[in-house]
Amino acid sequence: MSNRTFTMIKPDAFAKGHSGAIIDHILKGGFRIVALKLTRLSREKAGEFYDIHRARPFFGELVDFMSSGPIIAAILEKENAVADFRKLIGATDPAKADPGTIRKLFAASLGENAIHGSDSDENARIESDFFFNSFERY
Ligand code: RTP
Ligand code: MG
Repeated sequence: MSNRTFTMIKPDAFAKGHSGAIIDHILKGGFRIVALKLTRLSREKAGEFYDIHRARPFFGELVDFMSSGPIIAAILEKENAVADFRKLIGATDPAKADPGTIRKLFAASLGENAIHGSDSDENARIESDFFFNSFERY
């Protein structure tokens, strides 16, 4: 599945009404939508999703934030999807993100940074399976 990645529009960007503009940006970046849903993570599910960061000092804040409101989860397809999508969203800290990237355009801070993108093919597969069954993918 090296041509697929997984993304979430995070609660901050959804609440500010940026979802349409962000999806437009993703499509103009050459990605095809394979699956997409509006949903919400419980605290438990948010913790499970970011389990790799459980020991980090920011884990509690991250879980509170990610469960604070609706998100849009999606699977995206493009050649070299994981790397190209990380380029499209920009650095984790929006202050360090390149001009024109989604985080530079729509994110306010390191903690509330508008969008998630998988960091490897393996995680793209795990994260896609976390949200979507095979019947929900097109
Ligand atoms: P993401 O997984 O959400 O796409 O973000 P990322 O790969 O760019 O960054 P990662 O290292 O995986 O961190 C996950 C999320 O945790 C929050 N964070 N806060 N306060 C802090 O020092 C800090 N560091 C990371 C961010 O919201 C980051 O997106
Ligand atoms: Mg990450």
